Amino acid sequence: MTRPIVELAGIGHYAPARILRNAEFQAMGLETSHEWIVERTGICERHIAGPNDTTASMAANASRLAMERAGVTAADLDTVVLSTATPDRLLPATAVDLQAEIDASHAAAFDIGAACSGFLYGLTVAEGLIAAKSAETVLVAASEKMSAILDWTDRATCVLFGDAAGAAVVRPARNGKGILSTFMRSDGKLADLLYRPHGGASFPMSAEVLAQRTHLVKMAGRETFKHAVRMMCEAADRALDNAHLDASSIDLMVPHQANVRIIEATAKHAGIPMEKVFVNVGRYGNTSSASIPISLDEAIAAGRIREGMTVLLVAFGAGFTWGSMVVRF
Ligand SMILES: CC(C)(COP(=O)(O)OP(=O)(O)OC[C@H]1O[C@@H](n2cnc3c(N)ncnc32)[C@H](O)[C@@H]1OP(=O)(O)O)[C@@H](O)C(=O)NCCC(=O)NCCS
Repeated sequence: MTRPIVELAGIGHYAPARILRNAEFQAMGLETSHEWIVERTGICERHIAGPNDTTASMAANASRLAMERAGVTAADLDTVVLSTATPDRLLPATAVDLQAEIDASHAAAFDIGAACSGFLYGLTVAEGLIAAKSAETVLVAASEKMSAILDWTDRATCVLFGDAAGAAVVRPARNGKGILSTFMRSDGKLADLLYRPHGGASFPMSAEVLAQRTHLVKMAGRETFKHAVRMMCEAADRALDNAHLDASSIDLMVPHQANVRIIEATAKHAGIPMEKVFVNVGRYGNTSSASIPISLDEAIAAGRIREGMTVLLVAFGAGFTWGSMVVRF
């Protein structure tokens, strides 16, 4: 089967109303500064979920917009795929809460756990389901309530992340638009560099776990940074190779938004000038797998992605997982 097999028919995003600015961390008792955070990461502020924002409700808000823009209703969906590292409950999958909330009454629903690469993993799974004719209209959502799993006493991690959601409707391709190439990889030998050590089935929640805060995100920042650059660069190369394109054919690169220095290093390696790179990490922080659909939605709204453009998506996350994709809009 030749590509494109599927297209991204509609995209939407949702961010909670509350904005937490860098300057507020000191008042929370953290020894940090706006200058330190901006210089190392490019992040100025991030959205934080309010009392009514759950992973499922944020995903539902983004999904409603994506469906409206794709011209489909929830009854048209046959599959709901939700990427998240912050499920609302450990059982069942949060995708079924999303399926119930939007009333996708004819849809299968399941979660994807690939951390920040999860949206690209989800799109790739949707493409496979549609190629096999197991599905025709797939909702791929990514929703992350990172504020619920951060250690707010750890300045090396809590300043980096934010809450938000994004979604896309994936349908059979028309007029040559859609996914031109995909690439996915993982290396679980490096899992302990960015993880939540305890609170899962191998080491269940206990008073000791709670006291030691080992159910929250731990990260070896410097090591993670090095692997992120290496893996994002490989991913950029592989999506271009797989699409038989070179960097000069790319109208816009939309990378996972973790850190502006990682983005700059990836763009430089790929030979894509920063004018052709979409960056919004300053306003959202790292929203894990939601960052790419949010960026796509904003890039379309800003006219930076227009019909006929060729866009390179590149992601990296805990696992480690990494992946990429070339999409013609
Ligand atoms: C987290 C990160 C910004 C830290 O920057 P860095 O230059 O690597 O800094 P280090 O971790 O080596 O820490 C340097 C110093 O800054 C301190 N520091 C860490 N966070 C700080 C903060 N928010 N404010 C002030 N100082 C801070 C450290 O404690 C350390 O102090 P020390 O030298 O006294 O021990 C950087 O490593 C990074 O971005 N890593 C990748 C993270 C990421 O993107 N993860 C998600 C991938 S999807």
